[in-house]
Amino acid sequence: MKIFIDSANTGEIIRCLGTGLVDGVTTNPSLLRKVGKDPIEVYKSLEQLGVEDVSMEVVGNLQQMEKQANKLISMFGDICTVKLPMNQDGLKLCKYLASNGVRTNVTLIFNAAQALLAAKAGATYVSPFVGRIDDQGYSGLEVVRSIADLYKTTGFSTQVLAASIRTPHRAVRSYYNGADVVTMPSPVFWQMFEHVLTESGLRQFEVDYETFN
Ligand code: E4P
Repeated sequence: MKIFIDSANTGEIIRCLGTGLVDGVTTNPSLLRKVGKDPIEVYKSLEQLGVEDVSMEVVGNLQQMEKQANKLISMFGDICTVKLPMNQDGLKLCKYLASNGVRTNVTLIFNAAQALLAAKAGATYVSPFVGRIDDQGYSGLEVVRSIADLYKTTGFSTQVLAASIRTPHRAVRSYYNGADVVTMPSPVFWQMFEHVLTESGLRQFEVDYETFN
């Protein structure tokens, strides 16, 4: 069971890494745009912080994506997971990279049919977008479940990476539904630590503890 942080904000990521509970980071062009930094600079910072698995997204046609992927692999080596779109060019590149031992994450997955093709192309991870599926009036968690079941039945070793997670409930239920990894924004990660009864219980224990001194 792995926890990834879905962010390009290095300040946020440093805090999360400090817990010792984080296994990797996923980024995308929108998250990178939000922090207003050059993607390569962000990846360099993550490398210096010791993050072992960083999803770095490539875009464009096959040739453009291949060029970007080669650059990222040569710069970042083992920490680089090439994040590819769920389309024909994305899966062609996925197959090529997988046959060369490169980790891949096929993103923008919305159903089990897409996940099946991505696994067939050798993807290390597939990313079903739980929140965006929910937004369409369907159950993102059911899609996670159907992909996990499908991989169990067919024997694919591709890992299910639940993405587009907006609440601790969706994060936890993703694992219940068979996700191997959940990538979550840092606020969701912090909310997972909290419960109102933990806080009030701790306050009372501190008050009682003081009576011994
Ligand atoms: C991560 O891999 C995805 O790009 C991300 O979780 C998408 O999240 P969003 O639907 O909140 O933009």
